[in-house]
Amino acid sequence: MELFDVIVIGGGPGGYVAAIRSAQLGLRTACIDDWTGADGKASLGGTCLNVGCIPSKAMLDSSERLEQIQHDASAHGIQVEGVSIDLGKMLGRKDEIVRTLTQGIQGLFRKNKVTGIHGRGSLLARQGDQWVIGVGDARFGARRVVIATGSVPRSLPIAPFDGDRIVDNAGALAFPEVPAKLGVIGAGVIGLELGSVWRRLGSQVTVLEASPAFLAAADETIQKEALKQFQKQGLDLHLGVSIETVEKTEQGVSVLYAEKGESQLLEVDRLIVAVGRIPNTQGLGADTVGLELDGRGFVKVDDHYRTNLPGVYAIGDVIGGAMLAHKAEDEGVAVAELIAGQAGHVNYDVIPWVIYTSPEIAWAGKTEQQLKADGVAYTVGSFPFMANGRARAHHDVRGMVKVLADAKTDRVLGVHMIGPQVSELIGEVVTLMEFGGSAEDLARTVHAHPTLSEVVKEAALAVGKRAIHI
Ligand code: FAD
Ligand code: NAI
Repeated sequence: MELFDVIVIGGGPGGYVAAIRSAQLGLRTACIDDWTGADGKASLGGTCLNVGCIPSKAMLDSSERLEQIQHDASAHGIQVEGVSIDLGKMLGRKDEIVRTLTQGIQGLFRKNKVTGIHGRGSLLARQGDQWVIGVGDARFGARRVVIATGSVPRSLPIAPFDGDRIVDNAGALAFPEVPAKLGVIGAGVIGLELGSVWRRLGSQVTVLEASPAFLAAADETIQKEALKQFQKQGLDLHLGVSIETVEKTEQGVSVLYAEKGESQLLEVDRLIVAVGRIPNTQGLGADTVGLELDGRGFVKVDDHYRTNLPGVYAIGDVIGGAMLAHKAEDEGVAVAELIAGQAGHVNYDVIPWVIYTSPEIAWAGKTEQQLKADGVAYTVGSFPFMANGRARAHHDVRGMVKVLADAKTDRVLGVHMIGPQVSELIGEVVTLMEFGGSAEDLARTVHAHPTLSEVVKEAALAVGKRAIHI
């Protein structure tokens, strides 16, 4: 039995990062991952690289270019005729990006001397101070184990995935043709991002959401603006609905749902079900070794990522909290450092959220409704992209930035953005917040002109009621 200091089970953003950091810290490390790519070979990177963050962004980018050529180019004095799409090529580009990046992780493993093992890893038993892990017939031993087995899509019993007409995120990233009519159940992050992709490519998209609130986790100002923008684009959004039946027909799928007490029928060619994700502990051997899970199936950990089993840690989607790649990655670094006797730590108060629609949405820290509920005295400053020179030059003036600061100390408590390239603009905000910066700090920092980042600075100035350009 080959022995390691650390074995990481799962090679997604949490697991592969934990493995690389462990190896960097001088620990003999292996990473077991079972993802198999379309070519039948091991494909590291988990959900994020294979069927999540990366391929979705590739398709968002391609479809956004089409949208700009069709609807924006003429405003710049560019006449484009005979535009058509080659979906096969578009999907091929996405697959090639995935292949390059997943292979890149194999390269990082070689560079850092991490042993990659392809297959499903199961905790079998504890022998002395070693955990025995089985991968098929092979056995590996390690003093420390990091569980980073991620999450899988939650399915609806009335609409089980069939990989063809009723699909999860993986299926929705690989439709063989642009569906004329596409249904989406769930107006969450996946529903909005992938719904946007196919709408831009030509589908008529209807989104059915159970909650009466739209993007409930976002700041109220952003919720309102986002709803307005998405409806304007033609996403047919229905909130507060209840799905009654989902049936496959010869042509596609028919969905019966109740809205405002009335039954409605939706007939679509294909249906995406994106109603959240559940922890993935299948085949891990949790029962065999007595690994403690919570009521929803997440692996229970303390604030040092320790499970109830000695020497067994868990990170990433499988422990719950924000199901985000960067949260999983930072936990990967932290757990490796803790195992190595260092002071690994993740600041959960400053985790950026980004939704890569158009306009993009990004935020960090508290929302205005949270501050109200917590009884915190705060000041607000906001600034619209409409008053920004660079946004005008881009021909995209949608949205705004809103800064929330502590009324007494001026410390920035939350920043909420909707607009062009806010996925990039949130970076300076999280740095500022990580250092406990104030709105004054942000306002007095020189920002290049003309840039979109000036909107962030002006919103910070607006906290003190001294924005210049509005
Ligand atoms: P995962 O990425 O799920 O990786 C777990 C890995 O472990 C998988 O390869 C799995 O096959 C493997 N595994 C499971 N059990 C075993 C076992 N017993 N033995 C061996 N291997 C096993 N997040 C963002 O931050 N930004 C985004 O833009 C973004 N976009 C997304 C888009 C979509 C469509 C989806 C579905 C998700 C997106 N996410 C995004 C979320 C992100 O993908 C996850 O938060 C992230 O992948 C979690 O990382 P992880 O390492 O915890 O788990
Ligand atoms: P989600 O939690 O974001 O949204 C699910 C939505 O489905 C919710 O609005 C919920 O109210 C709704 N819903 C639940 N049951 C329903 C039902 N029976 N009928 C109708 N609506 C129902 O989950 P989603 O979109 O599946 O994404 C999973 C996770 O993946 C996200 O929470 C996020 O953590 C991650 N992700 C992150 C991205 C990013 O960072 N840009 C992109 C995509 C996914």
